[in-house]
Formats: sequence, C-alpha cells, structure tokens
Amino acid sequence: MKTILVTGGTDGIGKGLAMDLLKKGNRVIVLGSSLKKGLDFCSEAKQFTDENKVIFLQANLSLVSENKRIIEEIKRNYDELDALVLCAQSQKYSTIYKETDEGFEFSFALYYLSRYVLSYGLKTILEKAKAPIIINVCAPGTKGSVKWDNLQYKNKYNSIKAIMHGSRLNDLLGVSFVENYPNRKIKYVLFNPVAVQTKGATQAYEQPAIRFLVNKIFKLIGKPVNEAIKPILELMERPPNLNLSAYKQKKVVSLTMETFNKDYAERLFKLTEDLLLLVEIIP
Ligand SMILES: NC(=O)c1ccc[n+]([C@@H]2O[C@H](COP(=O)([O-])OP(=O)(O)OC[C@H]3O[C@@H](n4cnc5c(N)ncnc54)[C@H](OP(=O)(O)O)[C@@H]3O)[C@@H](O)[C@H]2O)c1
Repeated sequence: MKTILVTGGTDGIGKGLAMDLLKKGNRVIVLGSSLKKGLDFCSEAKQFTDENKVIFLQANLSLVSENKRIIEEIKRNYDELDALVLCAQSQKYSTIYKETDEGFEFSFALYYLSRYVLSYGLKTILEKAKAPIIINVCAPGTKGSVKWDNLQYKNKYNSIKAIMHGSRLNDLLGVSFVENYPNRKIKYVLFNPVAVQTKGATQAYEQPAIRFLVNKIFKLIGKPVNEAIKPILELMERPPNLNLSAYKQKKVVSLTMETFNKDYAERLFKLTEDLLLLVEIIP
C-alpha cells in the first residue's frame, strides 16, 4: 500500500486521481480548502475503501503558513510518502488584483508558492519511499517569458495571464528541484492535462454568456476527468527514468524550451527563497 498526498484532491482532476488511487488499495490524503467538499469526498470514498485509508486535510494552500502546517502534520503522522500530486488551483477569472494575508498575489501563492513549499518541504519524507514521485499538474511548455520585474503580476492584472505566468514558474520549479537535489531519487513530473471538463475550468467565468460558451467549448474539445487522468496514473505506476520530465497529455514536452532554462530556474529559486524569508520576518 502506497501513501499518496493529492492537493486539490476534493474536486476535478485531483479528485479523479484520488478516487482511482484509493480503489487500487492505496492510502490517500486529500487536501482542499472546503470542509464540505472534503467530507463529501470521504463519505463517497468510504463506500468502497477502508475508513483508515482515506484522509481529508483542510487547508488554505494560498497561505505559506498553511502549507508549512500541512508539511509538519504529514511528517508527524506518516513514516514515508510515495507520491505528492499537486492539483490545488483556482481558475476563477478576474481582473482584480488580490493579495493573500501574507502579501502575495493570490494565484502566485496558490499555483506556484504552495507547490514550491510542498515539493521542498516534503522532500525528506518522500525520499524514504522506494520510488517517490512528484506530479505537478500544471501546463508545462507555456510559451512566453518570465516577468522578472513583475513576478506576481502586480501591474495590469489579469488572472489568465497570471495563471499562464504561474505555469512558467512551475516549469522552473521542476528544473531547480532536480538541479538542487543531489540524491535524485525523487522523479519530478510536470503534466499538462490540456482541456478537462472540471467545474474549476468550465465555471471559471461568472458571466452567464461566457460560461455558457466555455461549457460548449469544453464539451467539444475537453476530456472527461476519468479519461484525462489515465496518462497521469500510468506515469505514477511506471515513473519515467529522467529526474525531470514534462508531458502534454501523453506527448513529451521538450526540456530544451526556454521555459526550462537552468539559469532562470536558479534565479527564481533564489528570489523565492528571499520571498519566503519575508513571511518568517513579518508574521
Ligand atoms: N481543467 C483543465 O482544463 C486544466 C487544463 C490545464 C491544466 N489544469 C491544471 O490541473 C490542475 C487541476 O485543475 P482542475 O480543473 O481539476 O481544478 P478544479 O476542478 O478547480 O479543482 C481544484 C481543487 O483545488 C482545491 N483548491 C482550490 N483553492 C484551494 C486553496 N486555496 N487551498 C487548498 N485547495 C484549494 C479545490 O478544493 P476547494 O474548493 O475545497 O478548495 C479543488 O479540490 C490545476 O493545477 C490546473 O491548472 C487544468
């Protein structure tokens, strides 16, 4: 039995993965911010799995402090972690710049910083597993460049652009993680599921007309969750040999793209460490 943590495991792609992994007999810890979604997940899962194999942890991962609390809790309660699957995300469309209580732009905090803190924070417990893997479900290979002077998209805010920017930051997180990590036991996978028929994606817009249109488009081009998760489950069963790999569905994304530049990864790593220090200095 493997122990697997799925952030954003109470809905969408994360939920699809978590349910499947439970059905295969694993112990799965799901993480989300809504208590109701978490309790619903548990009662659904308990219809086919042992009560002690399904665990829900409630946390607002847009806060660094919450990520740190979760890391401590996981380390306290489990000897090893076989897989970390990163799915927590909000795709709500907005042009209003929003900061967390810790002073980070919301999407930057949830989509990038949380994944950074969890990847590094759970490294030691992942290393104890036989073949540990981190699956970062994002959008590797997103064209464009990192805005070094506007890392958190403070100017001309638009959530779509901020999310696309966050995808580039996650690509660099994958690169720095394997570069900074001499042991190389943990395989890091960046995975782009493309269009998936989740509520998060299809209800991203408040405006009824746009929501209607997006729904139509996703019905045409999107995959249902149970189809979209298949390549991720395959990667978890047969992890790639490479320390870092990136996929767009089943297709390999070339790591020679600018978005995986090692110097940029090092630069972002240092900037992120500085930002995280600020959270400790200013409580
Ligand atoms: N769906 C697509 O078409 C698509 C395409 C490309 C990439 N992706 C990527 O795939 C991943 C999963 O997407 P999805 O469509 O499955 O998402 P989703 O259906 O919106 O589910 C998001 C999950 O994240 C959790 N979450 C949201 N805010 C949170 C917070 N502050 N703290 C903790 N958990 C939080 C949600 O639970 P709560 O609501 O309880 O917090 C939920 O479990 C994302 O990273 C997304 O960028 C998706």
